[in-house]
Amino acid sequence: MHLSRRGLLYGSAGLAAVSVAGCGAGEDSPELTGFTGISMPTDTSERWVIEGRLLEENFKALGYEVLHENAKDVVEDQISQIQSMIDQGVEFLVIAAIDNTSLGGVLAKAKNAGVQVIAYDRLILETPDVDLYATFDNYQVGVLQATHIIERLGLPEGNGPVNIELFSGDLGDNNSQYFFMGAMDTLESYLYEGDVVIPSAQTEQEPTATQGWSGDNAQVRMDTLLDEFYKEDVELHAVLSPYDGISRGIVASLVANGYEPGEDDFPVVTGQDAEAESLKAIKEGTGQTETVFKDTRLLAGTVTEMVKALVEGRDPEVNDLGTYDNGFKYVPSNLLDPVDVTAENYQELIVDSGYLTEEQIDAGQA
Ligand code: BGC
Repeated sequence: MHLSRRGLLYGSAGLAAVSVAGCGAGEDSPELTGFTGISMPTDTSERWVIEGRLLEENFKALGYEVLHENAKDVVEDQISQIQSMIDQGVEFLVIAAIDNTSLGGVLAKAKNAGVQVIAYDRLILETPDVDLYATFDNYQVGVLQATHIIERLGLPEGNGPVNIELFSGDLGDNNSQYFFMGAMDTLESYLYEGDVVIPSAQTEQEPTATQGWSGDNAQVRMDTLLDEFYKEDVELHAVLSPYDGISRGIVASLVANGYEPGEDDFPVVTGQDAEAESLKAIKEGTGQTETVFKDTRLLAGTVTEMVKALVEGRDPEVNDLGTYDNGFKYVPSNLLDPVDVTAENYQELIVDSGYLTEEQIDAGQA
């Protein structure tokens, strides 16, 4: 694991400008026009579709030419789409990787062609050819999820011991380890004291991982856990889930196994991404109780600003130089703040901010 908790942090509020080696129009380089390729990883989760569109609009509003592809979970397609963007002459690539270690080869070609690469939300590993990274504080996402469980179950008031199970994200996504680490560090003292018990004893990232971030896979694993470890009078009190799609799979399993949403003994279930369908359940009290909102408008805006700075020959702003080691270097990063969302504050954070309308939430669809 390449985790060093904000080693050389500039301070989450303070921004620094960073010189990106080889970036910017040098004296001999042709003038940059902002021609950008956007490569998104999947269309099964709401955010990537919305953000791809948003980035495209942002760049077009600046007068930049744009190529935009969604690789729909197929690693080979993402590689060939990026290759084709390089062949068509993009100057910048904005990439959310499906698999964090699969892009080294094609990014070497990008570097040879003078293309500057920004890792979007997910860090790309094991390559020197990534220049910048913009994401949310992924460790903090896990902290928020675990804190929700701790508070909902009244653990600080001495309401333990409770039984919980852990789910983590896809192993090919570098973010998964940060989400998991943030949650485990937050739960650690309760685990140590015996106030939190994990009946399955599956406490490592690997056995808890969810391939493809898939709700179906999560549902199958939850069925198995309930079947093996929650027989007779063993009750489940909470499930740590890293993403709304996974949370809905977990809830489906709980319901199929006799837990009743809305009842006091329905397990606390966390989530992430503020997807409409999950917000509907949070609002109506029919499933998960929390999600972590990452205002993707801000992330798309941050990356747009990075490209704009480079086009204009300025140094892009970053606020973290010491957390995200990709195996070759600490990639200069700009980290944004994730926010905890529950039934109590969804209106203010999601609706009033214009992220989703109440109608979209009621319909469960963005
Ligand atoms: C993102 C999360 C998202 C997950 C599944 C992660 O890389 O940071 O926001 O829930 O992928 O799409």
